[in-house]
Amino acid sequence: MSEQSTQPTSRFLPTDDPKLSLLIRPGGHEKPLQFQESVNLGRPIIAREIEPWTDAGAHELLSDIMAAHEAGDITTIARYKGKNPRRWLASIYPFAMEPRFVGLFFPDGTLLGWVSFTTSPYLPGKAVLGMVIRPPYQNAGLGTAALLHAKKYLRDIMRDASITDIFFETQEDNARVLAIAKKMKVQNTGRRIDQIKGDIAMLAFTNKPGAEA
Ligand SMILES: CC(C)(COP(=O)(O)OP(=O)(O)OC[C@H]1O[C@@H](n2cnc3c(N)ncnc32)[C@H](O)[C@@H]1OP(=O)(O)O)[C@@H](O)C(=O)NCCC(=O)NCCS
Repeated sequence: MSEQSTQPTSRFLPTDDPKLSLLIRPGGHEKPLQFQESVNLGRPIIAREIEPWTDAGAHELLSDIMAAHEAGDITTIARYKGKNPRRWLASIYPFAMEPRFVGLFFPDGTLLGWVSFTTSPYLPGKAVLGMVIRPPYQNAGLGTAALLHAKKYLRDIMRDASITDIFFETQEDNARVLAIAKKMKVQNTGRRIDQIKGDIAMLAFTNKPGAEA
């Protein structure tokens, strides 16, 4: 499949900040969603949709995915080494899954982490969520806040009213995700062994009504 024909078209926000202009996708939400409550980073956090289908955007996301893979927190079949970032990103997030990404930024454009949303015909009405918070910003409540705000991002940034629930999976040994799931009282909906990823046990969760911000 040609990359040219399948990439969504986009343009960048008119901004003087080079970091923001590289990543932020226009449209969606006009006023950036800000939150500070329960996040112990001392500065406001702005959530904006990321443009992933540029070399720069795909590289940022893949660098985080490969770092989390190397740390043993997630497993990916991708072996990105700095070349063909859009192709590697599409191997993880096929276009048919309608991947969308929300970046969490400091107001100066520093990318702190991001949340991915994909859809699946097997999970109607649900968005499948993935998330990476960059190591310097972990354990400050950002992952919890992002999960709490996930439905708001879908509604207000992506204007997607068809999604009523969030679904996510994590490795059974991912202590931080399990700590967040416990805190948020999300429902455990099952356990499976992922043989493609090497017999890794995965736990699945869905948010209960009322768990959103
Ligand atoms: C998982 C992740 C998104 C969480 O983001 P975060 O901003 O660090 O999350 P928070 O700070 O909101 O919460 C982390 C919780 O884990 C707890 N925690 C941290 N290390 C822990 C450990 N080794 N064992 C148990 N709990 C731990 C923290 O204390 C905190 O809980 P608390 O708020 O009750 O104290 C982030 O760590 C990350 O990007 N990891 C790598 C990629 C990944 O695993 N993605 C998820 C795939 S489903």
